Amino acid sequence: MRKVLVTGGAGFIGSNFVHYLIENTDDHVTVLDKLTYAGNLASLEGLPEDRFRFVKGDIADASVVDELVADADVVVHYAAESHNDNSLHDPRPFVDTNLVGTFTLLEAVRKHDVRFHHISTDEVYGDLELDDPQRFTEQTPYNPSSPYSSTKAGSDLLVRAWVRSFGVRATISNCSNNYGPYQHVEKFIPRQITNVLTGQRPKLYGAGLNVRDWIHANDHSSAVLTIIEKGRIGETYLIGADGEKDNKTVVELILKLTGQPTDAYDHVVDRPGHDLRYAIDSTKLRTELGWQPQYQDFEAGLAATIQWYRDHEAWWKPQKAATEAKYVLQGQ
Ligand SMILES: NC(=O)c1ccc[n+]([C@@H]2O[C@H](COP(=O)([O-])OP(=O)(O)OC[C@H]3O[C@@H](n4cnc5c(N)ncnc54)[C@H](O)[C@@H]3O)[C@@H](O)[C@H]2O)c1
Repeated sequence: MRKVLVTGGAGFIGSNFVHYLIENTDDHVTVLDKLTYAGNLASLEGLPEDRFRFVKGDIADASVVDELVADADVVVHYAAESHNDNSLHDPRPFVDTNLVGTFTLLEAVRKHDVRFHHISTDEVYGDLELDDPQRFTEQTPYNPSSPYSSTKAGSDLLVRAWVRSFGVRATISNCSNNYGPYQHVEKFIPRQITNVLTGQRPKLYGAGLNVRDWIHANDHSSAVLTIIEKGRIGETYLIGADGEKDNKTVVELILKLTGQPTDAYDHVVDRPGHDLRYAIDSTKLRTELGWQPQYQDFEAGLAATIQWYRDHEAWWKPQKAATEAKYVLQGQ
């Protein structure tokens, strides 16, 4: 039985990973999470008490981190400030959590010689032109655009330095945009789904031509577990499921799947510096470690996600009004 410490496990992807670990391994899981506006204990309901515990705390707090890392076999680091729009309005928490928090964890895993896996994003690579035949690979130079992506890029570089300088046993994964259950309604897909479910029109940034490479959160989890078990120390693996779609197509699909006219949405002012296109080449992960995504049909995965939001109104309803009020203030 492994003891796995999951930071940010009350957030969207972290909570999906915790459920995935409990269902697919014998691991004992400890979640360390500060429960910011993005953390939700309801995402961790129903987990077995003999294999799961929750600790409320900050990854930048060296004393709590040291105590939990000392007792772990593996640390999987999801905790982050994760929303681009927020980073444009108040970058400070992004520096504190994404940079100082990751530094604090690295010092603890270095001290206790604990295996570390760092969760990152494809946004560290900047963006691609819509007609560029290239996709991001592990060799693509870093070129982040926002305070969010630049602090994630900085945290990746800290991990690489701690591997090289101090021999920390770490791997990194950079994943494309996730969708699935437990995602905060501030994010693009759940915002549009819950708009329709509350009788509001979906909102599209600008012309909606920006392309994201969608992957189901469960596929992200299976890839991370594969890297923890088979990945080579010091290596970076890109995670993606060949799911490129522009935002307009996604909104129209949500409207179609909810029985609405496919043009029943509003255009809102575009995000400053909005990255045009992300696209992941995950050949290394697939050929070296033998990973394959299970959710290959985006429309079916989206339909299941819409159903999840229909069935879990009590989970998302408390976030909805405050989130939309914030967007109204931002003109979005
Ligand atoms: N959402 C995506 O599509 C996506 C894609 C690729 C990579 N990622 C990465 O995956 C990770 C998780 O993303 P998410 O979408 O689940 O984010 P999220 O915002 O839903 O969850 C983040 C979690 O971290 C916790 N947290 C924040 N600051 C903390 C701190 N100082 N100490 C302890 N806990 C803290 C929050 O309470 C929350 O539970 C992030 O590192 C993000 O960069 C996300």
